[in-house]
Amino acid sequence: MLYTNYAEYNLDTLTLTNKKQTSDDRLLQSRLGEEGRIPRHIAVIMDGNGRWAKSRGNIRLFGHKAGVDSVRDITEACAQLGVEYLTLYAFSTENWGRPMDEVTGLMQLLVQSLRNETRKLNDNDIRLLTIGQLERFPESCQRELREAIDLTRDNKRMNLCLALSYSGRWDITQAVRKLAVQVKQGKINPEDISDDLITSELVTADIPDPDLIIRTSGEFRISNFLLWQLAYSELYITNTYWPDFRRNELYEAIRSYQKRERRFGKTSEQVST
Ligand code: IPE
Ligand code: IPE
Ligand code: MG
Repeated sequence: MLYTNYAEYNLDTLTLTNKKQTSDDRLLQSRLGEEGRIPRHIAVIMDGNGRWAKSRGNIRLFGHKAGVDSVRDITEACAQLGVEYLTLYAFSTENWGRPMDEVTGLMQLLVQSLRNETRKLNDNDIRLLTIGQLERFPESCQRELREAIDLTRDNKRMNLCLALSYSGRWDITQAVRKLAVQVKQGKINPEDISDDLITSELVTADIPDPDLIIRTSGEFRISNFLLWQLAYSELYITNTYWPDFRRNELYEAIRSYQKRERRFGKTSEQVST
């Protein structure tokens, strides 16, 4: 059946699997850890939900809903691998311009997913945080997010950072504005403005730059994600739509990352010694 009205779509059917980790998967993960470095921070542009749904004759929200299963699987796998930060681009500043029905559906899905998943995140010692203009979200969403953030505040195993109403240009703009105020108040001089000072005013000030950025659905663009922070991130782009992106492909992305030489502007000889 082709749903045309999002209001008819029952989000209560959102059930997430609670599979036990298989011994094969444990083996794959330990091999990955032996073969090279596990990225400290992985950031993901989760794209292709709409096309995934359309290819099945369904509405876009069906794809977003299926995408939640991938979020869960990738979050679990990253925590098991010892990734310290996982940042997920869930809603961009530009996504506010989508049809009202889709935006509302996404907000409902976010609230529902937080209700279903927060306890499990907490049981797994995962800390939830967000970056973006949360104040633009409906109060119900903000409350649900605040509760999840508060509950998981002291967790140590992994940081799961949701980019919500986020864009890189917005982030840089708000940082520049704060610095301009400090100059105006005479707290700093224009000459004091450095790479580090700008970094310290970004919403990611407490988060290391991403080592690996994954984009699904085959688009070769950044779409206003972490513009400042990705200066030296390794990029991995796959044609797989987000709802089909599961841990085995994450392992492929990490394997690709492990084969690369990160030179940070230096020569190969310099970084290999
Ligand atoms: C990504 O999937 C999810 C969000 C941007 C919220 P899309 O909804 O962009 O799916 P496509 O790119 O249209 O297939
Ligand atoms: C990027 O996907 C934003 C998120 C994944 C949240 P989009 O689907 O919005 O990006 P464009 O429009 O194809 O660049
Ligand atoms: Mg898209």
